[in-house]
Amino acid sequence: MYFHLIVVPLTQIYIILYRMEKQNVVISHDLEKCLSEAIARCPHDRLFVLTDTTTVQLCWPIVQAYECLSGAQVITIGSTDDNKTLESLCHVWESLQQGRATRHSLLVNLGGGMVTDLGGFAASTFKRGIPYINIPTTLLSMVDASVGGKTGINFGGFKNEIGVFNSPSTVILDTRFLATLDYPNIASGYAEMLKHGLISDVEKWSELVNFDIKQPDTSVLGDMVGKSVAVKERVVTIDPTEKGLRKVLNLGHTIGHALESLAMEENRTVLHGYAVAWGLVAELYLSCMLTGFPTDKMRQTVSFIKAYYGTFDFTCDHYEHLYELMKHDKKNVGDTINFALLGGIGDIRLDMHATKEQIFEALDFLREG
Ligand code: GLY
Repeated sequence: MYFHLIVVPLTQIYIILYRMEKQNVVISHDLEKCLSEAIARCPHDRLFVLTDTTTVQLCWPIVQAYECLSGAQVITIGSTDDNKTLESLCHVWESLQQGRATRHSLLVNLGGGMVTDLGGFAASTFKRGIPYINIPTTLLSMVDASVGGKTGINFGGFKNEIGVFNSPSTVILDTRFLATLDYPNIASGYAEMLKHGLISDVEKWSELVNFDIKQPDTSVLGDMVGKSVAVKERVVTIDPTEKGLRKVLNLGHTIGHALESLAMEENRTVLHGYAVAWGLVAELYLSCMLTGFPTDKMRQTVSFIKAYYGTFDFTCDHYEHLYELMKHDKKNVGDTINFALLGGIGDIRLDMHATKEQIFEALDFLREG
């Protein structure tokens, strides 16, 4: 992974080096031990566990009997992204209040990205902030959402519109939870792994585009998760609040989030990682057009995505609206749409711009390949 010189002024490198902050991410082979150590690092009066309606059935039974969780009060919210709302957040705040949580209480988020994002935001705002621990149970939250301290909820039709940066005190990754996931949830998380491969090096990218995610070897996948989360950790340690390098984690997301918002408006179920995968197709096309990304590597990545994620059904009548949705992206300055693109694998180009015509051409490519 390296920066193109033009896009990172030296002063910014000094600022990001000054801000370096190690994330506390633990790869667990003994969840009870790791969790009890993580809890012991956060002296607290009352303990709360946030789950969702799926996790409470599939994952809570795995940890329920742990000594370190005895006496924990369980709060449960709805399980899909459409529950990442102000109403669910209010439910968590009210449950903390009713459970007599104080500023010295601790919240453990057990679940996918929705739970870790919303729970992280609830913890960050309750009584001006209580500590929290993340135990991600989906591939998406293991490799992306639970690490790096982005917390928040969807609002006004936009993804993660309201939130704060605030890192969990510990993130515990236990790949045994992968066995609880169906194919769409494996594929969804894998899209973020693909992104991590694209922004790091040819070896990681090549391993990723040659792996069969329909019949995954779970021990190989477990190792790949460790490598993938290390990429994210490296980026967010250097730039925790997305002033520079962290923008690269938005590769595929400018167009991906617009597709996801469109799907949300039309009540179509599209998992986040599927939208990111399709966003990667369009943004790699822009990378070929604008920053010289090699066409053969773009084609190989696109073939992988088409084979495992299928296609998103939309027409050119949606383009103007998708363009408007892109204008709301958090990375933008004013009305200019900002992209993180690549000049090659690991060759990062931040704050790139494309014309409306170029973006529409990329959408044509996504539809027609
Ligand atoms: N999911 C992108 C980031 O954490 O910055």
